[in-house]
Amino acid sequence: MQQLVLAARAARERAYAPYSHFAVGAALLDEQGRIHAGCNIENAAYPQSQCAEASAIAHLVLAGGKRIMAAAVVGVAPQPVTPCGGCRQRLREFADDDMPIWVADLDSVRATTTLGHLLPASFGPEHLKDS
Ligand code: THU
Repeated sequence: MQQLVLAARAARERAYAPYSHFAVGAALLDEQGRIHAGCNIENAAYPQSQCAEASAIAHLVLAGGKRIMAAAVVGVAPQPVTPCGGCRQRLREFADDDMPIWVADLDSVRATTTLGHLLPASFGPEHLKDS
């Protein structure tokens, strides 16, 4: 957990967020024990911005990772910065319901949860097996 949170904090330092000024970092543990990190990358055409989780997933896939075993998300706000709705679904593609998610800021882990808790009764790749 410690390593994932540290990787997410380091990634957050690279955030490109000139519009929201809200920097986010994410780090993912793959099935081989490797860590893949990402930051949010905003765009002058606002809807084209990318969340930190999406950046981290891109790194995991590019490195040949198949599964997300654990995740850390780091942001600084009054409330713990949990993954947005879209990113919960993005994580769902590569993770089980019991996948732990650590939500941290610069000082501590503010919340510990699971993907299934954040995205219950979710739609996933299994639904498309017979189609
Ligand atoms: N953001 C993330 O990177 N991940 C989340 O789960 C929440 C939101 C980013 C998107 C945008 O660049 C900024 O935070 C403000 O919404």
